[in-house]
Amino acid sequence: MKYKRILLKLSGESLMGNKGFGIDQQRLMEYAAEIKNAYDAGCQVAIVIGGGNIFRGIQAEKGGMDRVHGDYMGMLATVINSMAIQSALEGLGVQTRLQSAIKMEQICEPFIRRKAVRHLEKGRVVIFGAGTGNPYFTTDSAAALRAIEIEANVILKGTRVDGIYTADPEKDPSATKYSSISYDECYNKGLEVMDLTAFTLCKENNLPIIVFDMNKKGNLQNLLNGEKVGTIVEA
Ligand code: GTP
Repeated sequence: MKYKRILLKLSGESLMGNKGFGIDQQRLMEYAAEIKNAYDAGCQVAIVIGGGNIFRGIQAEKGGMDRVHGDYMGMLATVINSMAIQSALEGLGVQTRLQSAIKMEQICEPFIRRKAVRHLEKGRVVIFGAGTGNPYFTTDSAAALRAIEIEANVILKGTRVDGIYTADPEKDPSATKYSSISYDECYNKGLEVMDLTAFTLCKENNLPIIVFDMNKKGNLQNLLNGEKVGTIVEA
């Protein structure tokens, strides 16, 4: 196992599958199965998931909603997705704990770093909901922050593309994929891996980021086995 403790970042949109909104049960179960494989292999898994399949604060702002208000609604959306992942994982017999950055004691634990680490050590998948609990921060930033807090070895950004390209492969057919790239080169070339807040947190704390295709079956497992999957960003 290449990485002992990982933080897996999933986008909310990816949970939609082919639907236009909400949660696609089949996609949810596929993700849960992939995560279970990593868990069964002995990897300590923490998860942060976005909320864009349910609510996007930035779009609400364009429609006239107060930004902060919209961001809090987005944070609540991530808790719904987190609960869905939790339920899917537990259905497969995986022990989980959900911790939220905004207190909701009837449905989950509050975020307590030391408890989260203890859960991981005891073999529970820990899901972090409600982002960082603050407006103006993305779930990518939440993922970077939590990964650093729990001392994860790597942050795995599961996306629909299989890595970082020299240009947008959908627009430029000559674009090629990096297998690895440094933080500085990534920044200097303006390649958008995460928003800058998240990216800077990773760089300053020397946390490697791997961008990979989460929709390809077995990819997560292959990555953990040390195969070249996706693109790694590191010093
Ligand atoms: P250890 O004591 O380290 O084994 O962890 P534990 O999570 O099993 O113990 P704890 O007694 O803290 O939690 C038992 C169950 O209650 C777990 O399923 C927790 O997720 C849940 N739980 C703990 N705190 C809260 C809370 O504040 N709100 C909610 N809704 N559930 C909680």
